[in-house]
Amino acid sequence: MSEQPRASFGGKLSAILVAAGSAIGLGSIWRFPYMAGENGGAAFLLVYLLCVFVVGIPVMLGEFAVGRATKLNAVGGFRSLSRPWRWLGYNGVLGALLISGYYYIVAGWSLEYMVSSFGNLYSSGAPFSEQFAAFQASPRQAIYTVIFILLTHLIIIRGVEKGIEKASKVMMPALLVILVIMAVRVAFMPGAAEGYRFFLNPDFKVAFSPNTIFTAIGQAFFSLSVGMGCMVTYASYFKKDNNLTGTSMSVALLTLMVAVLAGLVIFPAVFSAGLEPAEGASLIFNTLPEIFKDMPFAAVWSAAFFLLLTLASLTSTISFHEVLTAYFAEEHKLSRKWATRLTSALSIALCMLSLYWVFDIDFAGIKMENASCFDLFDYVTANILMPLGGLLTCIFVAWRMKPEFLRDEMTNYGKLKGRAYPLLRFALRFVTPLLIIYIFIKNLGLF
Ligand code: PHE
Repeated sequence: MSEQPRASFGGKLSAILVAAGSAIGLGSIWRFPYMAGENGGAAFLLVYLLCVFVVGIPVMLGEFAVGRATKLNAVGGFRSLSRPWRWLGYNGVLGALLISGYYYIVAGWSLEYMVSSFGNLYSSGAPFSEQFAAFQASPRQAIYTVIFILLTHLIIIRGVEKGIEKASKVMMPALLVILVIMAVRVAFMPGAAEGYRFFLNPDFKVAFSPNTIFTAIGQAFFSLSVGMGCMVTYASYFKKDNNLTGTSMSVALLTLMVAVLAGLVIFPAVFSAGLEPAEGASLIFNTLPEIFKDMPFAAVWSAAFFLLLTLASLTSTISFHEVLTAYFAEEHKLSRKWATRLTSALSIALCMLSLYWVFDIDFAGIKMENASCFDLFDYVTANILMPLGGLLTCIFVAWRMKPEFLRDEMTNYGKLKGRAYPLLRFALRFVTPLLIIYIFIKNLGLF
């Protein structure tokens, strides 16, 4: 985007669409059910909901304010307001790099499931978990990962983001519709009630354990694409009259809706098929085919769903690829083409590391056996870098900058009433940062 004259997104709707395009993706449909399954189901949902409102929306608003006020990328945006704060931009760049190191792998799974819906997935009759394990053990996994990176690369290098913007106008409603159809379908599966209980009836003791809050905050950051400068970059293309508060609420609510729908689809199906909700990263890939397999035109439904998931992932991969590409192009004076190539090459290298290197960790309260960079990158970005970025964004917007900065951006220099301003300023000054600090101290054994 750096070499072109600074464009802006068409209207209010398209600003919401592109930001929601970045937010809605594997985070809501793959990671949310997998984290909820491992952390008490309904308890996790409850805390996640709170985190979206208390942490996600204020931080997103703060990033929008910085982006639109400066009209610059993540590093440049913070730097232009205050030089030392450029490090907050670098934190985002590092986050984008680590997310690139595993997100494409999962996006590749979705692509492979779209293709194999018409291949062996339903015709072979083998249990889905065995098929997934076999796929993971084969070189196909690496191939699909690379294909996904190249797909993102092509879109970025051709500058066809506008096309993607148009496509997401159709894709996002279609994704919601298919999720609703699936949610209705699973309600009729035997044993579904157990899944609703798991997902909707919280155990408060589990909910308010520091670990659940820690994981849920991480999930809120990850699923909303906040805490790493992505929304700074996107907001730099917003128009002057965009209502930033309304946009951040709409994006958060849409993302939340997709995540809740995903839970309402997955958990009844998990219990109906006798699977384990806490089985981890493979959860949706082993569960969703159970829903499709007895439907008429199973392959078509399945392929349609995985196509939409693939497209939703693509609008997210574009957004963090762009954070890196813009950074390399603008800060290291690479041509746009070479910056894109460098980003894609790094993504391939990191994904291969994630796929083929296994080790143990016992460090700063983090214990993982048989870990891979896949788990490590996921943990470090969602649970450390993004909350840290979010914390610093709050401090920057609500303490370092003058109060007028946030007020002007929220009211469009007096044109809007900005009734939520006192509440959001209070959240950004006290509630959000203190909550993040408390959870860091509790979970990382910092003191
Ligand atoms: N929010 C995206 C998702 O849920 C992932 C993402 C994180 C994208 C950070 C950009 C930046 O899939």
